[in-house]
Amino acid sequence: MDLKAYLKTHQERVDGALSRYLPGEETLPAQLHKAMRYSVFAGGKRVRPILMIAACEAVGGVIETVLPAACAMEMIHTYSLIHDDLPAMDDDDFRRGRPTNHKVFGEATAILAGDALLTEAFNLLSASESAENISAETRLQVLNIMARCAGSMGMVGGQVVDMEAEGHDIDLPTLQYIHTHKTGALILACLQCGALLGGGNKDQFDALSRYGETAGLAFQVADDILDVIGDQEVLGKDVGSDQARGKATYPALMGLEEAQRRAQELKDLAIEALGSFDHRAEPLRAIARYIVDRSS
Ligand code: IPE
Ligand code: IPE
Ligand code: MG
Ligand code: MG
Ligand code: MG
Repeated sequence: MDLKAYLKTHQERVDGALSRYLPGEETLPAQLHKAMRYSVFAGGKRVRPILMIAACEAVGGVIETVLPAACAMEMIHTYSLIHDDLPAMDDDDFRRGRPTNHKVFGEATAILAGDALLTEAFNLLSASESAENISAETRLQVLNIMARCAGSMGMVGGQVVDMEAEGHDIDLPTLQYIHTHKTGALILACLQCGALLGGGNKDQFDALSRYGETAGLAFQVADDILDVIGDQEVLGKDVGSDQARGKATYPALMGLEEAQRRAQELKDLAIEALGSFDHRAEPLRAIARYIVDRSS
């Protein structure tokens, strides 16, 4: 399968929908909406929405059913990046190939743009226009998964432990907690929401959850590795900032080569979880490989 073409087509589809769902730059308060759109349309890879779409298609669903939730997830992800870059957190200057949100709009607006993106995600998820052909029960399940993955037991929880671990030696279980929460939680939720919205059965939901857990952890291990060996131009964000801040990462804990070996192992586990799926899971298999072999 041609993953490059698949990613491009789906990125365009997601970008078009995001642009329709988000208030325009001139909508008041214009500075806030400019700041939100600045980060959303700075060129993210759209891995999370594409994973949700691919999971939906793997169980026989269609993209239209999943597009609002996929865009809501990208809004939540973008909010997490804006806040992650703030001086109070990772204090980074570049993101998605541009100066970070707070560098351009100031800290207060960056914080509020993040808040608004998070809230807009739930506005979109709960809007009646997003509900065509989806049962009330499924919509509620999706809402619940999205709320949980982003909150204190999910991404935000992982971010807190990530901050607490700065400058400390931590053990592997703590590092795994950080990675499966700050990054893995949203990715797992993408697979689960895709399975539900696509009408997958319990076995398919469980298998896609196993894929999501392993691919989600692999994604952050690869991110750690790219912070060491990546090219700033290609990545579009600062490199070397983990070491500079004394961040808990896989390469810091076990060395670069062992981290690379574990990333490959997690990829194999993710692909293995798709054993009972047919050709419709081919994009998910290719994305698992891409997650660990990517250069940005
Ligand atoms: C970066 O995510 C932050 C992490 C959770 C590792 P991505 O690598 O998906 O960043 P974008 O969305 O493509 O900018
Ligand atoms: C980010 O982890 C996880 C988030 C919830 C945003 P990182 O701090 O490693 O992400 P990057 O490297 O800045 O994108
Ligand atoms: Mg961080
Ligand atoms: Mg960061
Ligand atoms: Mg990183």
